[in-house]
Amino acid sequence: MHAIQMRGITKRFGPVIANNHIDFDLMRGEIHALLGENGAGKTTLMRILYGLYHADEGEVRVNGQVAHVAAPKDAIQLGIGMVTQHFALVPTLSVAENVVLGYTGSFRVNPQVARQKVAEAAARFGVEVNPSALVRHLSVGERQRVEILKALYRNARVLILDEPTAVLVPQEVDMLFQTLERLRQDGLSVIFISHKLYEVMTVCDRITVLRDGHVVGTVDKAATSQAELARMMVGRETFGVARQERKPQGEVLLRIENLSAVDEKGLPAIKGVSLEVGAGEILGVAGVSGNGQTELSHVLAGTLKPTGGRVLVGDRDLTLADPAQVSGMGVGRIPEDRHEGAIGELNVAENLALEYLGEFITAGMLDHQRIRRHAEQLIAEYQIKASPTDRMRTLSGGNIQKVILARALSRNPQVVIASQPTRGLDVGATEYVRSKLLEQRSRGAAVLLLSEDLDEVLALSDRIAVIYEGRIVGLIPAKEADLEQLGLMMSGAREGIRVEA
Ligand SMILES: Nc1ncnc2c1ncn2[C@@H]1O[C@H](COP(=O)(O)OP(=O)(O)OP(=O)(O)O)[C@@H](O)[C@H]1O
Ligand SMILES: [Mg+2]
Repeated sequence: MHAIQMRGITKRFGPVIANNHIDFDLMRGEIHALLGENGAGKTTLMRILYGLYHADEGEVRVNGQVAHVAAPKDAIQLGIGMVTQHFALVPTLSVAENVVLGYTGSFRVNPQVARQKVAEAAARFGVEVNPSALVRHLSVGERQRVEILKALYRNARVLILDEPTAVLVPQEVDMLFQTLERLRQDGLSVIFISHKLYEVMTVCDRITVLRDGHVVGTVDKAATSQAELARMMVGRETFGVARQERKPQGEVLLRIENLSAVDEKGLPAIKGVSLEVGAGEILGVAGVSGNGQTELSHVLAGTLKPTGGRVLVGDRDLTLADPAQVSGMGVGRIPEDRHEGAIGELNVAENLALEYLGEFITAGMLDHQRIRRHAEQLIAEYQIKASPTDRMRTLSGGNIQKVILARALSRNPQVVIASQPTRGLDVGATEYVRSKLLEQRSRGAAVLLLSEDLDEVLALSDRIAVIYEGRIVGLIPAKEADLEQLGLMMSGAREGIRVEA
């Protein structure tokens, strides 16, 4: 029995055809993965189903009936729920109030009744939440569960999850998969978007692969493999990128001493962090988002002044340096938010010269010829799909990241600070970025890698530091680390363990 049938869906954004005559079927009681490279059109298709975008052509059927989904409220009415990474919860309200809010049609909810009902719903669907907790005290994983429960509470029979695991630690991923399994047994349908092939192979029944806005095919999990999926997605097999073991080279290039800093609200975010990164070493900092990584990377980038401690590159102190001085001292930065590292309204060539404009001045004037030649060279070297004159904001996520990478790495920095370098990138782009970081390591640079992706940290790092609530709670050689142990440390369950590497 079909839950959803999408037929001939086409959606254009100016010259871009994000969805090109897409047919997509979702059965009742199935978990169906949507796979594809960055920009393949997955989110667009789901936003159409949920009423956030309107298709230029095509038809959607829900339970066999033609449906007109003009807005999310129509989708909800039809039993379709969507959870994105930008949660729409009210932080100052309890879990129960958030779940019930909007559903009762009024803003006034009897807290006790709400708690009761939400506790019942949580038990029925097997979603672990504490109805009385305030949302602002919840972790990202917990908030996600509240969003899922909210959709289920509104009687969703189809649940759309757009990259739900990107923000979760391994234990939370297991928990999510258990919930999905239970929903499937109850006859609900789930559309699951992820860039991680093993997740798709673990939890899904069928998989639809998109490429350039087209459907490449739909396959049964039982009849496919990760290799085949990768081939369908990018047209070739991927092999994974991992470092080669080798002896450390010694000399410390980046030294962080007892560093402290506060967050936007003025609350302590990093509390006495000390780390050293040697030449030819990748030190991975693993942690769930919001544990101080953002502030740490901002201090190292010169965009946040620390409240205590020092940062040294070689023997030079850059604790109070501004971003231009940081770059000038041979530090290449890949910022957490790629939109922070690029200016959307400037073109690719200008973005590639940003932070280094001094190098492009001839006779007191910016030399646009040279800026353009420089860009052409880097575009070729880093295989960026763009021309020097394209506005940055028209590039896909993977290509924006390549521009930032090219700018940061082309000057052979001594130290590289990479924050979430592959977040949201597809398998091909991810491999590329990882291989570039390993290249820096081979070249003898000291690389500090801040990443929420444990597989990434494990594949690339020589040593792994775990950050939790602004402190380093563990430091271990990567070859001794295992996923479960790291996950526990990252969730604070093992605070206090400290293994010196
Ligand atoms: N609001 C918009 N305006 C202009 N172009 C858009 C808009 N939304 C999406 N696009 C374009 O449509 C194409 C498909 O994007 P979409 O977000 O659906 O991809 P995706 O498969 O979800 O990628 P990712 O894996 O990076 O999330 C891309 O080329 C993107 O730049
Ligand atoms: Mg998307």
